[in-house]
Amino acid sequence: MAWDRRMPERPVVAVAGATGAVGREMLKVLEQRAFPASRVVALASSRSAGKRVPFAGGELVVEEMTPASFEGVDVALFSAGASTSKQFRDAVTGAGAVMIDNSSAFRMDEDVPLVVPEVNAEDLAWHSGVVANPNCSTIQMVVALGPLAGLAPMKRVVVSTYQAASGAGQAAMDELYDQTRGFLEGRELVPQAFAHRIAFNCIPQIDVFLDDGSTKEEWKMVVETRKIMHLPGLAVTANCVRVPVLRCHSEAVNVEFEAPVDLAGARAALEAAPGVRLLDDPAGKLYPMPAMLEGTDDTYVGRLRADVSVEHGLAFWVVADQLRKGAALNAVQIAEALVGR
Ligand code: A2P
Repeated sequence: MAWDRRMPERPVVAVAGATGAVGREMLKVLEQRAFPASRVVALASSRSAGKRVPFAGGELVVEEMTPASFEGVDVALFSAGASTSKQFRDAVTGAGAVMIDNSSAFRMDEDVPLVVPEVNAEDLAWHSGVVANPNCSTIQMVVALGPLAGLAPMKRVVVSTYQAASGAGQAAMDELYDQTRGFLEGRELVPQAFAHRIAFNCIPQIDVFLDDGSTKEEWKMVVETRKIMHLPGLAVTANCVRVPVLRCHSEAVNVEFEAPVDLAGARAALEAAPGVRLLDDPAGKLYPMPAMLEGTDDTYVGRLRADVSVEHGLAFWVVADQLRKGAALNAVQIAEALVGR
């Protein structure tokens, strides 16, 4: 059933998972974008109750998340894992709040819009209390694919990812730091956050393996891209790899179209697209790289060129900060789009 409650102009916001890598970034984004919150509540597990997290020049005291936490809340930004989202969904919507969920718990549910505001903000019209934030790798790819989809019908997308440690949470980022130091010091390394050592390595497994030999991360990129772009027949194939980068994901993307696409037209469409920045000057060795883009909000595209291995093809490289556009920023942008709606 469609949601019939109006989001106030100055909503009460809860951040669920406020001590985590994404939750902390959500607080930062709310502050930096001057989100019109009348109050912000920081929630995490009982382990963190009483801890303090920085917000708006001061600190918020973290509260243990219980079903009662959502009374009086208008919008709850969740990044505390899929099982926690499932556990608290009814408490959130029952309290009259909209849940914006960063986990994979509800993304493919038919009554849950999966939204990247630059691409499909119109889907917010039919939510029924839960809006899902897509997978980080999917978000930055569709921000770049969206403007290109207007040039000619898309037939097939091939993507290879180079994903940062941040996608696996704060503990994984700490592990990359610690292992890098440990490796240089010749210490014995014991992988915990990842299946293998991440320092000075690449791991071609993100999330669990499925029966067809792909990983769940790769499957998410396929089905989420189709849902967000309203292209159920789009052929998508993904290969997802974890690399020893702290917080920006990179992707090599090849797109095949049904009809000719002019390179200048593609460049113009990307230049005009909200949330996209072209950094593309091969002569000047200028292209997006994780090391230069930490903490940024846009989705950066470079190495744009024809893919001559197919009849109508384009290839490009896309980088975005996983914690910002890939998670916290996109969630806050969804909340912004809901205000007053
Ligand atoms: P806590 O720090 O108390 O464990 P990350 O993705 O960086 O690992 O962060 C996960 C976030 O989700 C943390 O803020 C963590 O809180 C929170 N979290 C995990 N499990 C629960 C839970 N059962 N209830 C509330 N918050 C949770």
